[in-house]
Amino acid sequence: MAEYDLLVLNGLVVTADETGQFDIAVKDGKIAKLVPRGSLDGITANKTIDAEGGMVMPGGVDAHVHLAEPALFGKGKSADDYETGSRSAIAGGTTTLITFAPQRKTEPSLLAALAATHELAKDKCYSDYSFHLICSNAGPQAISEFAALREAGISSLKIYMTYEALQLKDSEILDVLFEARKQKIVTMIHAENGAIIDWTIKKLEEKKLFDPKYHVTSHPPVAEIEATYRAISLSSFIDVPILIVHVSSPSAAKHISDAQKRGLPIYAETCPQYLFLTRKDLDKPGFEGAKCVCSPPPREGEQDHEGIWQGLENGTFTVLSSDHCPFLYEDTTVGKKSVISAEYPNGHFKYIPNGCPGVETRMSLALSANRLKLQKFVEVTSTNAAKLYGLYPRKGGLVPGESDADLTVWYPDGMKEYQLTNSMLHHNVDHTPYEGRTIKQWPRYTILRGEVVWAKDEGGLVGKKGYGQFLQRDMSSLAGSMSKEEWNVENF
Ligand code: URP
Ligand code: ZN
Ligand code: ZN
Repeated sequence: MAEYDLLVLNGLVVTADETGQFDIAVKDGKIAKLVPRGSLDGITANKTIDAEGGMVMPGGVDAHVHLAEPALFGKGKSADDYETGSRSAIAGGTTTLITFAPQRKTEPSLLAALAATHELAKDKCYSDYSFHLICSNAGPQAISEFAALREAGISSLKIYMTYEALQLKDSEILDVLFEARKQKIVTMIHAENGAIIDWTIKKLEEKKLFDPKYHVTSHPPVAEIEATYRAISLSSFIDVPILIVHVSSPSAAKHISDAQKRGLPIYAETCPQYLFLTRKDLDKPGFEGAKCVCSPPPREGEQDHEGIWQGLENGTFTVLSSDHCPFLYEDTTVGKKSVISAEYPNGHFKYIPNGCPGVETRMSLALSANRLKLQKFVEVTSTNAAKLYGLYPRKGGLVPGESDADLTVWYPDGMKEYQLTNSMLHHNVDHTPYEGRTIKQWPRYTILRGEVVWAKDEGGLVGKKGYGQFLQRDMSSLAGSMSKEEWNVENF
């Protein structure tokens, strides 16, 4: 009988902590050995992959993915369900998804939203998965359920400072943060000032300006900057960790890094759309720009991109997630084109479903840019998300005896180059915002708990629907509240 289930040999292994010529042995779905190249010569295994000098990394962890969601961000509903979204993930080297379980404003319970989302994902996933709860009704019942969420393996939730269907008032945000501190839950905050956005939309409507490009005008940087500062202020008042999601503006990032320098547990996320897209992508003939409508919107140009890259390099950003929020473009009932009517022949920007697809392209795009040091790349695309959301070292690392054998094996440098087209992708979306871009890397193999689920040159998608497992998560292993004492109003 073979000693191991799988060997991955001759790779340049990159983790967040080290880079080296290591060989890997896998047994029972776990990393069993990570040893200098050649140490496993003569060892038997059921399967051997020769990485031929290509990079081998922990599988990607994408902690911001929307699947099978109803209309929440404008009209429209998700084009991807748990099957197609997780299929797309593994084809792009991501082995763990954390998606959202949305609570409706009319629904008092978070546990009910969790149960409904479990039903949507059960037996459907190609990748492993967990959920962040979206809390849009922070009433007494929802707050009282935080402890039960922890019991159910959920240690994070997302709240919104904008969108009619989701927005919380500052007092409600404080209620959430106060209980999150007690239960050791990480709160993700969508930081845009809803009132500034609504006011600006009215000004544009008065001038009859409806084209997709006015989505950018209606979400000015000040809306993000103000809300980011307010989110930091509210969380520092309660002394509780937060993560500001999908940061687009370097000025908002400056508030975050200032807070981090003060020692506050403020974490932040950015996404490929803020590294590769600009407002020009929304200013295309006809309705085409709608493909790149997301919130916050892509900003001006190279200077903003540079600021966001620097934030990744210097640690202001903890994670690089996709914010995969897929809508069909052509579909006229639930897609982007659902906002075209006789009254608005070019659509009306304020109704366009907000979101872009990107779960499959996240890692290849970022790696192809050749901008981040390799260990930093692993940190922001895998390890830090696992740490922040209570999955490390099971996910996000290659720790023998502890980590699941989740691996992304890349092609040796220079072996492949692609012009990206939507037809290469495995999502259920009819476009990619990155159509035509040159991609210098793509996962050759994706391995999930020791099973090859993606083999680009040997059948492509070889994983099985339903192999993906729900992951019970623990509390974050990144720094939490600064004080161990119970929060006491008399201290202020
Ligand atoms: O436009 C975006 N980002 N759509 C997804 C919804 C959200 O707020 O993440
Ligand atoms: Zn958001
Ligand atoms: Zn999102």
